[in-house]
Amino acid sequence: MTKVLIATDKPFAQVAVARICEIFETAGFEVVKLEKYSKKSELLDAVKDVDAMIVRSDIIDKEVLGAAPKLKIVVRAGAGYDNIDTTAASANGVCVMNTPGQNSNAVAELAIGLALYGVREFFSGNTGGELRGRTIGLHGYGYVARNVKRIARAFGMTPIVYTRYSKGQAASEGIEVTGSLEELYERSDIVSIHVPARGEHNKSVNIDILNHLKQGAIIVNTARKEVINEDDLCRFMETRKDVKYLSDIEPDCKAVFEEKFAGRYYFTPKKLGAQTEEANINAGIAAAEQIVAFILKGDETFRVNK
Ligand code: 3PG
Repeated sequence: MTKVLIATDKPFAQVAVARICEIFETAGFEVVKLEKYSKKSELLDAVKDVDAMIVRSDIIDKEVLGAAPKLKIVVRAGAGYDNIDTTAASANGVCVMNTPGQNSNAVAELAIGLALYGVREFFSGNTGGELRGRTIGLHGYGYVARNVKRIARAFGMTPIVYTRYSKGQAASEGIEVTGSLEELYERSDIVSIHVPARGEHNKSVNIDILNHLKQGAIIVNTARKEVINEDDLCRFMETRKDVKYLSDIEPDCKAVFEEKFAGRYYFTPKKLGAQTEEANINAGIAAAEQIVAFILKGDETFRVNK
């Protein structure tokens, strides 16, 4: 019997877990859960006899893959799969998938929420500003950014985007694509980051880019802390006292922010962009269906490793 592990340090909403289990039970698969685990050893133990796994941001490295000799597929219920060692997975013959688009509205709503929180001076009582009439620059144009664009327009904002890979998509949706990343940062009142923590994107938001930000700009990062060069960010925030930074999950340099940039930043207590029932249900169901289709029919749609 196919055995599936749902390994979620940050568990799905219970309603999502119930729906996921239903799909596996209908397929005749056995399901086991490992939620809110505190030690890696618990994960290493749980993977030892499973054929398939659903994870969220859980770290699936060489050691975990090595401890799972029967594993055939791991599905990241979400978009970013930087938590999975795809090279080691390929070497072990394990298929890695994500569930693109399934939790993107939740993340986009958080991005707009953070922008609103920033522009309103963190609900401090100080006079803030409004989103209407402002330009929001989307750094990257995947599913989350497209949802941000939709919501931003409803607020009366002007979204613009810098993208290398989705120019056609952007053009077909009538959103202006800037000629360069520098231009995006120069023209935006709010920059919302939506690039994955992979390859050339890591630490790509550096001092050269930040220096292009206009007076009073707000940076919203619901992508990954790894896409920002944190040393550069701290340096920049130190000289540019007009700029605010709001992000989903705290940066490694949180202590510097606490010491020097009071009143100009906000970090969520844990990564919660996709932490909604709806996102859990959508991504969880997609992940379960992808596993069933892969095991029963060899369907490799959404595979991300070679
Ligand atoms: C994603 O990459 O899909 C989001 O960052 C959500 O991640 P999470 O499942 O850890 O909340």
